[in-house]
Amino acid sequence: MNADQFFAELWTEYTKVTPQAARIHDLFERDTRPIINDHVAFRTFNIPPIDIRSLEPFILDLGYTVLDEYHFPKKRLNARSYYSPGQPKIFLSEYLVSSLNEDFQYYVNAACSLVTPDQVQDISILNKGRLWPMPTWQTYQGLLAQSDYAAWLMVMGLRANHFTISVNHLHQHPTLASVNRWLKDYGFTLNSSGGEIKGTVTDCLEQSSTLADQQMVTFADGDRHLIQTCYYEFAKRYEDSPGHLFQGFVPASADKIFESTHAGAHRA
Ligand code: NI
Repeated sequence: MNADQFFAELWTEYTKVTPQAARIHDLFERDTRPIINDHVAFRTFNIPPIDIRSLEPFILDLGYTVLDEYHFPKKRLNARSYYSPGQPKIFLSEYLVSSLNEDFQYYVNAACSLVTPDQVQDISILNKGRLWPMPTWQTYQGLLAQSDYAAWLMVMGLRANHFTISVNHLHQHPTLASVNRWLKDYGFTLNSSGGEIKGTVTDCLEQSSTLADQQMVTFADGDRHLIQTCYYEFAKRYEDSPGHLFQGFVPASADKIFESTHAGAHRA
């Protein structure tokens, strides 16, 4: 599978659980074609065979190189970014399972042990969704109390957590503020944790995102509840040297963007 096929399949699965992304994409396409993706982000646990170390070779196989490494101590996450000319960057983060209490460490380790080697053969693993049984509502709530990220991942599995539109390539919006105003005019809700725009011109990267869509899911015990699925992000990059756009990420901004899937966000 080449990178173009991979991203096309990811987009199909992503828009199934994130219908707002398809609507927003169509709206922008009235003026800009094609829409360019800045990056696509993935989440996983730091447990083999799905930790960053195990998954990275598949990303490199697509022609990517490692761009940088990031640590989010408060959210108990590590991350790496990857670059390939002409393709969206890839941002892969992993949750440090040892941060959970013992019962939940055991639970997550048991879930990851159900992932068989033949499921982890190539990059398509990052679009397989949940690789373990659905948790009960009670287990989900227990995880949620410790980590929104871990609870999201346990239900949603491996998939594109968000696609990100490159605002630099949009014809009709010179600024991210203009993108945000336009989205709100169309009725979309933005993640306002840390302000609608994360990062500054000085950081060379400004980002904003919608709040995740919600979907009714059936938990293992038959309970049905609305959960957060995925969101859409928007990134505007600035030059870090003459003629060269900054290609990295800003940890303080990423830290707030993670909260676009927080269960409490829609109540805020
Ligand atoms: Ni992102």
